[in-house]
Amino acid sequence: MDEETRLIHAGHVDKLPARTVSPPIQRGSTVLLPDAKALYDGTLGYGRAGLSAQFALMEALCELEGAKGVQLYPSGLAAMTAAIMAVLKTGDHLLVVDSVYRPVRYFCDKVLRRFGVAVNYYDPNLDAGGLLALANPATKLIVLESPGSLSFEMQDVAAIASAARTRGILTLVDNTWGAGRLFKPLAHGADISVQALTKYVCGHSDVFMGSAAVNDPKLAAALKASIQDHGWAVSGEDAYQALRGLRTLATRLDRHGESGLAVARWLAGQPEVLAVLHPALPGAPGHDLWARDYSGACGLFGFVLQPGTPAKVEAFLDALELFGLGFSWGGFESLAISCDPQLTSRAMAPDFGGPLMRLHVGLEAVDDLTADLRRALDVYSS
Ligand SMILES: Cc1ncc(COP(=O)(O)O)c(C=O)c1O
Repeated sequence: MDEETRLIHAGHVDKLPARTVSPPIQRGSTVLLPDAKALYDGTLGYGRAGLSAQFALMEALCELEGAKGVQLYPSGLAAMTAAIMAVLKTGDHLLVVDSVYRPVRYFCDKVLRRFGVAVNYYDPNLDAGGLLALANPATKLIVLESPGSLSFEMQDVAAIASAARTRGILTLVDNTWGAGRLFKPLAHGADISVQALTKYVCGHSDVFMGSAAVNDPKLAAALKASIQDHGWAVSGEDAYQALRGLRTLATRLDRHGESGLAVARWLAGQPEVLAVLHPALPGAPGHDLWARDYSGACGLFGFVLQPGTPAKVEAFLDALELFGLGFSWGGFESLAISCDPQLTSRAMAPDFGGPLMRLHVGLEAVDDLTADLRRALDVYSS
């Protein structure tokens, strides 16, 4: 054969040369099938459905979530929107917690309403009875997020899931804060557990991915079908990185939780701080639910500054040297943001009595972080 042809066909790996601890990263859109019969017999026929690293990750996430089925999505937001889309149709009604991650609200308002799904936002402090009173015969799904984005309200997932089930309504929890480890939505009766793997599972601020975990076979089939119908896919490299992050999730979360609580306690004692919104802090809002349901905390929490001007808030943030200014969390590094500009899109904007801030406490030494915050608080109060 001509060299051109030989170069195309040489060097195919039919068998792995060795078994490694982590799965091989297969880069492939084309899947080579063993024979003509396999073309149409349901054999995995195309790389978009996932290859070795994606399957290994899905299996490990089933273990983490206590799930029978897990699907992967190219971001946490995609996991939320795709899981919502998979179970709703035109004419349905959806209840979404007002403290939901804001881009999910945009999706509901812009996309779902365009397709004839009615959406209402509910107060995160409502109990199961109050929440179910907002449901009507068309209500098919309740979206929960606990603790809530930015304002950290805790929801009684078990009570809401159980009340919803008696009305034939599904529940979906954004459990990114719990990272599948600190809280287990499926074990508390939720139907769908979603998380942005981008945060703690990947853990290094360099990968986007999301997952939706379920136990019910019908729901598992609906999620899988919607992935195929919409064409979602994640790369082998990204799945590999997520699996690599998962291996150290427990250890990293222990440290994030410990350091976060230490910084939260320290902040509670500073005169410039009006309140600390950390569910694991005794006396903080939602602490009882956290203590009942959670095995630990992550490094993300809020705090309220004594009243001050927006310019002072900016000066506080600009004075931070170790805390980066960035919207994400779950990586090894500490981050800070101001939250008030984001609260304006809420249906029931909470009033905290002063500027609301959010911190992600990373893996740096706590004393260095509190020294950084002290410097910035001096600027705030000067
Ligand atoms: C609670 C929560 N859910 C979902 C997401 C979306 O994740 P991603 O950035 O991977 O789309 C985020 C991102 O910040 C989040 O904070």
